[in-house]
Order: sequence, then C-alpha cells, then structure tokens
Amino acid sequence: TWLGIDIGTSAVKALVVDADGHALAEAAEPLAIAHPEPLWSEQDPDAWWLAVEAAVARLANAAPGAFARVGGIGLSGQMHGAVLLGADDRPLRPAILWNDGRAHTDAADLAATRPDLALRLGVKPMAGFVAPKLLWLARHEPASLDRLSMLVLPKDYIRLKLTGEHATDPCDAAGAWLLDEARRDWDEAALAAVGLARSKLPRIVEGSAVSGRLSPEIARRWGLDAGIPVAGGAGDAAAGALGVGAIDEGDTILSLGTSAQLFASTASYRPNVAALVHAFAHALPGRWFQMAAMLNGASALAWAADVLGRPVGDLVAAVEARATGPSPVTFLPYLTGERTPHDDPHARGVFFGLSAATDALDIARAVMEGVAFTFADARDALVGGGTEIGAVAAVGGGARSRLWLEMIAAVLDRPVLKLAGGDKGPAFGAAMLARLAATGEPPESVCLRPPVEAEIRPDPALRDAYAPRVARFRRLYAALRPEFA
Ligand code: XUL
Repeated sequence: TWLGIDIGTSAVKALVVDADGHALAEAAEPLAIAHPEPLWSEQDPDAWWLAVEAAVARLANAAPGAFARVGGIGLSGQMHGAVLLGADDRPLRPAILWNDGRAHTDAADLAATRPDLALRLGVKPMAGFVAPKLLWLARHEPASLDRLSMLVLPKDYIRLKLTGEHATDPCDAAGAWLLDEARRDWDEAALAAVGLARSKLPRIVEGSAVSGRLSPEIARRWGLDAGIPVAGGAGDAAAGALGVGAIDEGDTILSLGTSAQLFASTASYRPNVAALVHAFAHALPGRWFQMAAMLNGASALAWAADVLGRPVGDLVAAVEARATGPSPVTFLPYLTGERTPHDDPHARGVFFGLSAATDALDIARAVMEGVAFTFADARDALVGGGTEIGAVAAVGGGARSRLWLEMIAAVLDRPVLKLAGGDKGPAFGAAMLARLAATGEPPESVCLRPPVEAEIRPDPALRDAYAPRVARFRRLYAALRPEFA
C-alpha cells in the first residue's frame, strides 16, 4: 500500500491506497491560519508536523493491516509558502503562505526590473510567491535572512522530518518563482534578482522519483519499515490533477479546495504570461501544465457558513433544496485578494444587490455563484492563449456539491465530470507518486481517471441566465478596483 500526505491550508490529509487504487483509510487534522497583520497569512511549520503525526496515528488505528504494508510515502502540499530554516533545520519564523499579500510592492518591483523573467519562469511574479517574499524579508526582517540556511516549500519541511533530506520537486520549485520551467532547474537570474545563493535551496527531484528514505526513528515510531522511499511529490494543484489521471495534453480539471483552479496538462512548456496563467512543471518528468489560480474557492463558502452560523453541509443542502434560479445577489469572492486574472492582493469580498427581502440562502447561493463566476475568467485566460478546453473533471471537497458543479458547468459552458473519489484531492495523487517512486511503473498504467459518476452538461437556461450576471460581476470588479487599493 501507499501513503499519501497532503499539507493543505485548512487541514493535513492523509490516506492509504492499495494496488487497485482504493483508499483504505483516510484521516484529516485541521490547521489554523494566523492573520497577524492585514494581508498577512501564516502558519507554524511545526503545526503541520504535529498534524501529520496525528493523522498518521489515526490511519494506523483505522486500518492497521493496510498501514503496516505501506511501501512508500508521497507528499503534496500548499504551494508558494516560504519556510525559512536555520542551520539547525528549525524554522526561523512562521511560514508565509500562498495567500499572503504583504509582498505586493516587492512583486511589482521585481516584475518592473526583470520583465524578461516571466517568460522563462512561467508567470509574472505575484505577491503570494516565494521570490517577492524574500525581497520583503530583506526590507523588513533582514535578521531572518541573515540566519537563513535553507529555504523550502511547505511539504518539503515534512520530507525533512521524515528523511533528513533537503529536497523539493519541479512543481513546488515553480511556485517559488525561482524555476527555469523548460530546464526544470533553479534559475540563476531569478536567484540573483532576489539575492539568494543556490546553496540555500534544496536539490530538485522529480515528483515520481525517490527523494529520500524514511528514517529509522520515524519508522519505529510509526510502525513502518525503515528505508521505504519518500517520493519527490508535488504542489497540491499538480498532485490533485495526477490523482485523477490528468497528465496528458488536453486533460483538464477544476479544483475546488480552499483555493480554486482551472488546470490543463500540457506536453510542453507553454507560457501565457499576458493572461496571468501559471505555466508550471507538472508532477511527472517532461510534462507541464497551465493553470488559472484563484485564491478563493470552498474557503469562501466556509466563511459564509461561519458568518451565517450554520454548518457548510446544512447550508449547501438548504440551497440545493430551494433550487430557484440565480440568486438576486452578486458576490465578488475576493476575500483574500486574487491572482488570475487580476493580480490584486487588495481585492476584497463584496455583496451587491442586497434588498430587504434577501435571506441567508440568497447570500449562500450568491457565494457559490461568485466562486463559479471566477471560472469564466479562468476559462477565458486559458482559451485566450490557445488552450482548448473540453470536458472538465472536478476535484476537491467542493466537488461534492452537485449544484456547485452545475453552476460551474453553466458558467464554463463545458461539461463537468463528477468522478468517483474526486473529492479525495491531492493526497491521493501523492500516494500515486509514492507508488511510481517505489515501483518504477509507467505513469500511464498508474495514473488513471476514476470512473465518471455523473457528466453534468451545461444547462442552456442557466447558462443564459448567468451570462448577464457574469458581465455584471466583471463590471463590479472593474469599478471597485480603485476602491480596494
Ligand atoms: C496555487 C495556489 C494554491 C495553493 C494552496 O497557485 O496558490 O492552490 O497551492 O492550495
């Protein structure tokens, strides 16, 4: 069996998968996010490790036989997080996360001084990426940089705990905005632009290759064989795609986790810089992807449920049960700013069209629609660069809601596929990378698309009803952009 571990933003998720691709046990441990200043978003790397240990202990309890047979471990995680380690491999400060906007002027400066780099690094520098955060640290926390011995991405901190190795994979290296995408190696000019020595970066190992071996100490504690391989792994977007077999040119997925993405696998490196598409290395050698990266996915609904004082599941069920047409309210879901298509860390959530008759379900439905509307911009970003999009497979927790997928199908004007196990997300892809690293099997025979549970065709009436609402949604953002700044 194979153990996949995903260092998410809202939770660490772990699962054990057998040779038939069945998840035999799953566990999740919630994580808190700190926002100590406006625009800031941080987590303690040791909280990730405690959550990993707790999740793994729960798996071992739930399925002891399957767990004892784990033959390899794969890691996936939230991308773009800066984890600064000192010479003793201890974190020097909290990790600065993907949805942290503090480095926005540094990102703009970097884009202005090195406009040539975007084409090679897959996208222009934006606030959530690691590279501009280094410039921010140089200005505000030079002491942290002085003591910096090794800079890793979130899941790579867990690898260090498991194996003692400093390593990352091309996909996460891409998210740092420090990778030459075509060569899949650190980019010397980008390193120079942020003043980082290559010796402070981990070596890059392909996602499906062995990055290290489980240490005797952890093996003893977890009851596993010492020396089982730990795969390179991948950023969560690529791991989620690989988990549902989206590895070939033309395979397209949408992900509805904390964040949201529209993601197309590509057989070559194809940047589309003007549209703020992220063209990054995929989780397998010689493969890339194009991604529209939106910062507010199922997290927007979780926020609304919290504010309305109802469990998310109940709220969605109530919206589904009412099943009237579009909400009278329009919602801009930019609670933590936005990357594609706006590159605007200052953008914020907005409700438009509230009346005395508006109720909680109108608000909840508007929130789901607002997230769905961001997929119209995502589609246009990818299609405008010449990438064709056919049927789109849905992954992530939000994919459990059929209504949400119906909204997105109508907005995209494309069929959306609900897959068996599509809600398992990146941890499942991480387990597949573990298997590839341990067995050397060809990816085509391991990374298969799960059975399609439902093909949700765009409803023409809903599509037509949404068209003017999407247009208003776009006008509202354009009108409000100066107000956010
Ligand atoms: C992708 C992105 C998010 C994070 C957190 O660009 O920022 O998907 O990886 O999930």
